[in-house]
Amino acid sequence: MSEEILPEERQGEILENFSSTAGDKKMFIESYGCQMNFSDSEIVASVLNKEGYSSTNDINDADVVFLNTCSIRDNAELTIRKRLQKIQHEKKKNPNLKVGILGCMAERLKSKLLEEEKLVDLVAGPDAYRDLPQLMQQVSEGEKSVNVILSRDETYSDIDPVRLKSNGVTAFISIMRGCDNMCTFCVVPFTRGRERSRDPKSIVAEAEKLHAQGYKEVTLLGQNVDSYRWSDNADLRGKALKEAPRSEVIDFAKLLEMVASIAPDLRVRFTTSHPKDITDDVLYTMKAHENICKYIHLPAQSGNSRILEKMNRTYTREWYLEKVNRVREILPDCAISTDLIAGFCSETEEEHQDTVDLMKEVIYDYAYMFYYSERPGTLAAKKFEDDVPLEIKKKRLQEIIELQNQHNLIRNESCVGEIYKVLVEGFSKKSKEDLMGRTSHFRTVVFPKENYKPGDYVNVKIDRCTGGTLLGKALEKVN
Ligand code: SAH
Ligand code: SF4
Ligand code: F3S
Repeated sequence: MSEEILPEERQGEILENFSSTAGDKKMFIESYGCQMNFSDSEIVASVLNKEGYSSTNDINDADVVFLNTCSIRDNAELTIRKRLQKIQHEKKKNPNLKVGILGCMAERLKSKLLEEEKLVDLVAGPDAYRDLPQLMQQVSEGEKSVNVILSRDETYSDIDPVRLKSNGVTAFISIMRGCDNMCTFCVVPFTRGRERSRDPKSIVAEAEKLHAQGYKEVTLLGQNVDSYRWSDNADLRGKALKEAPRSEVIDFAKLLEMVASIAPDLRVRFTTSHPKDITDDVLYTMKAHENICKYIHLPAQSGNSRILEKMNRTYTREWYLEKVNRVREILPDCAISTDLIAGFCSETEEEHQDTVDLMKEVIYDYAYMFYYSERPGTLAAKKFEDDVPLEIKKKRLQEIIELQNQHNLIRNESCVGEIYKVLVEGFSKKSKEDLMGRTSHFRTVVFPKENYKPGDYVNVKIDRCTGGTLLGKALEKVN
C-alpha cells in the first residue's frame, strides 16, 4: 500500500508500546509488511481490548500471539514461517499458548495454513477482525478457527484504533481498503479484496481526535489513495460511484482539503499514489495548504514501456515522466519517491537500463527497490514465465540500489545551508542528547535537543548530511 510499503528491513518490527489494561487475558501482536498492516493491528487491538485482552511485550506472558502477516514477496512469507518455528519453542515452555495468523498470508493460504503449520490455531483475513472474539471463543474451546471472508464494504470506520508503538506525534489513518488495480505481479488484490472507501466523516473525526490528543501529523493510508471516492447517496456504489460527476462525490482532493482544514498545526501526509490516478486537483490542494506535506510516493515500477504494459500499470514511461513534470510544475519543491521492481518476467538488459535512465532523469528523493518475486495466483504467475535468473535479478537490483544511494546523497547535499521546518518525532537513535524529526519532504533531520521536545515544530539550519540524514542546529520553535 502502498500506501507506502515498509522496506523489508522493517518487517518483523515488534509493536512495543502496546500498553492496555483491559483484562486478565494477554495478547502479543507482531506486525509485518506495509503500514496498512500496522494500522490494522491497531484495529485488532481495539476489538480484543473490548473482550478483556490486554497487551504484553513478553511472549512468555501471553495467552495468544498474533502475527499480522504479509505476502507481497516470497521472502516476506519465509520470514513468517521462520518466526513460527521460533514460536514452536515458546510453546514448549508455555503449552497453553495460542497462535493466530492475521493479514495477507492468512487470506492467501486460508485453511491450508492450519494444515501446513500445525501449531497455528486461528486464521483471520484482513476483513474478518470483527469476528475475532468469536474466533477466539472457538479456540478456547479447543477448536481451530478460520475466517477469511473478504468484504465489499468493511472499512472498520466505527472502530477506534488503539494506538500501538505510538510516539504520540504521528499516526496512520486508513481511508480505504483493498485494490481494484490488477498489476500483474501483485498479490494485494487477492489478499485485500475489492477497493472501498471509508466514510469521510469518520476519517475527519479520527483526525480531529488525534489532534485533540496532541498528535501533530496524520498519514492517510490506502493502496491507491487517488481513487478514494465517497457519496452519502447509498445508490451510488461500485461503477456508478466511479463514474459519478465530481460535484456529487467526495474524491481524494476534497478529502485532503477536509483533513488539512482541521488545524494548521496538523500535518497531513498520504500514501500511496498511483501515477495513473493522481489529479491536478490533488496537486493544487497540496499547494493551497502549507500543512499538506510536499512529498509524493509515486511508484514507477519500471522505466520501460513494454514492461509497464506487461505489468498492467496502464501508463508508459513517457506518460509517467509527464506526470513527474506536472508535479514539479505545480509544486516545484515537492519530493518524489518510488517503488521499482528489477527483473520482471522477460525483462532484457536494455529494458533494465531504461529503469536506470528513468532514475537518472527523475533523481528520486527516495526509492524502495525489490527484485521480482513470483506470487502464486497472480496474473503474471499464470501468464508469464519467471525467466530472469535470480543472479541477474540480484545484479540489476544491486545496480539500482547503488544508483539510488548516490541520488539520496545528491538530494540531501542540496539541503545543506538551508533552513527547514522540522516536526520533532522523538530522540535520535544514536543519542538522547539529539532529537529526530522530519521536514515536509519526509527527510530525516537530527539536531542537538537543547530545550526542544517531541511534538514541537522547530526551524533547523542544516550544516551537514549523510545519504540518510540531515544534521543541523535548531534556530527557533515555530507554529
Ligand atoms: N499500492 C502500491 C504498492 C503496493 S505493494 C502501488 O500500487 O504502488 C508495494 C510494492 O511492492 C509495489 O509497489 C512493488 O514495487 C512491490 N511488489 C509488489 N509485488 C511484488 C512482487 N511480486 N515482486 C517484487 N516486488 C513486488
Ligand atoms: Fe498497488 Fe498495483 Fe498492487 Fe494495487 S495491484 S496494490 S495498485 S501494485
Ligand atoms: Fe501490505 Fe503485504 Fe498485504 S504489503 S497489503 S501486508 S501483502
